[in-house]
Amino acid sequence: MDILSAAKERHTAKAYDAQRRIPEELMQKVYSLLRHSPSSVNSQPWHFIVANTPEGRARIAKAAQGGYSYNQAKIEDASHVIVLCSRIDMDEAHLNNLLDQEERDGRFKDAAARAGQDAGRRGYVYQHRFGGKDVAQWLEKQVYLALGTALLGAATLGIDATPMEGFDQKILDAEFGLNEQGLASLVLVSFGYSSEKDFNATLPKSRLSEEMTFTFI
Ligand SMILES: Cc1cc2nc3c(=O)[nH]c(=O)nc-3n(C[C@H](O)[C@H](O)[C@H](O)COP(=O)(O)O)c2cc1C
Repeated sequence: MDILSAAKERHTAKAYDAQRRIPEELMQKVYSLLRHSPSSVNSQPWHFIVANTPEGRARIAKAAQGGYSYNQAKIEDASHVIVLCSRIDMDEAHLNNLLDQEERDGRFKDAAARAGQDAGRRGYVYQHRFGGKDVAQWLEKQVYLALGTALLGAATLGIDATPMEGFDQKILDAEFGLNEQGLASLVLVSFGYSSEKDFNATLPKSRLSEEMTFTFI
């Protein structure tokens, strides 16, 4: 499907056909989209937990109880559910991991190029740590880029999806020991195929007008 049709035709799935599974080779493309998403100073401050079994989805669904129970079936009946986690800081270990990976990937022609990249990235980190005091929020923004990439990508692959902020973050963080790893759960995405109960599949899409959305100068 071409990208504009996918953007217009995709919708947030509200109910899944629990019998239909997404072929793993298609999900591999979704994983690759997540991993290749852009991020400020190539910070890649994410980790993705993938559930593709009933047991795995049930662990995630523990965070969709009480006031969040409207999302429970969207987790349990989907084919795959991914927890998008964000780093809460850019610590030394992560900064060095990034730099070493960029070196292995052939990004630096010499030691000066490596040092320049390290200094540039640290400059942004320090600006957010001491200036804006908003490192965690800055990093979360990067993870949301991966969310958008995956949602549009899934649509081009003919996969239905549901982004979800409606879950208890503390429950999920405890379930997967995320805080101990310097991570926090941020947003969930279910992937699968809509059932006939998905009322949103047939509703018209609603967006503000072009005039309200853009200023062309
Ligand atoms: C970050 C984010 C969080 C969302 N959280 C939920 C959610 O918890 N449950 C849900 O059913 N839909 C959720 N949505 C879906 C939005 O309501 C939906 O994207 C919006 O109404 C536009 O409709 P569309 O996705 O069908 O085009 C979320 C969407 C985004 C981008």
